[in-house]
Amino acid sequence: MSTPLGDLGFIHRWEPAENARITLLVLHGTGGNENDLVPLARELLPDAAILSPRGKVVERGMPRFFRRLAEGVFDLEDLALRTDELARFVDDASASYGFDRDRVIALGFSNGANITASMLLRLGAVLRGAMLLSPMLPFEPLKTPDLSSVAVFIGAGTSDTIIPPAQARRLVDALRAAGADVTDYWHPAGHTITHEELRAAKAWLKTYAVG
Ligand code: MLT
Repeated sequence: MSTPLGDLGFIHRWEPAENARITLLVLHGTGGNENDLVPLARELLPDAAILSPRGKVVERGMPRFFRRLAEGVFDLEDLALRTDELARFVDDASASYGFDRDRVIALGFSNGANITASMLLRLGAVLRGAMLLSPMLPFEPLKTPDLSSVAVFIGAGTSDTIIPPAQARRLVDALRAAGADVTDYWHPAGHTITHEELRAAKAWLKTYAVG
């Protein structure tokens, strides 16, 4: 069941879990909603609590997390505002639901992965870790943030025509330059999530998240 906007400002799903050590912040792709990736998040880390907001920008009926001017061309002013707003939502949700703000790992696909990358590159180590599936470098950071405490899994397709591999590689490079511990996983498919990629993400979680 989704929670309407309420005080937290986003329609979202909150699924607590008894003795959860990690909260997964789950962020859908363009045209998705707060329910899409929840089964996948559960499969990846069954003991985690789940916080899954719906993007507030609507493009031709499709929810997104920030405005774009064209495919892969972002409205950077809107991206900055929406990034700050999403980070505030996570802070407020932590206070409201009582989960540990220091133990949040994001799981984002495509547009959801891109706003997660924006959070890290704009705000620094506001997440313990992130799984970014089919992401790209959302903007060129003016200042390199300190991400030395952050672990990131990047899954990307070498046949992705929506976000070409070079774009995902730029993100890998930018995160590494900021000191993040980046594991990149490449699959031969396009703009999608593959079973093997999920297996790799699950193994990564075991190494990085559950410690
Ligand atoms: C984006 O807009 O974030 C990327 O182009 C991916 C997409 O959502 O199509």
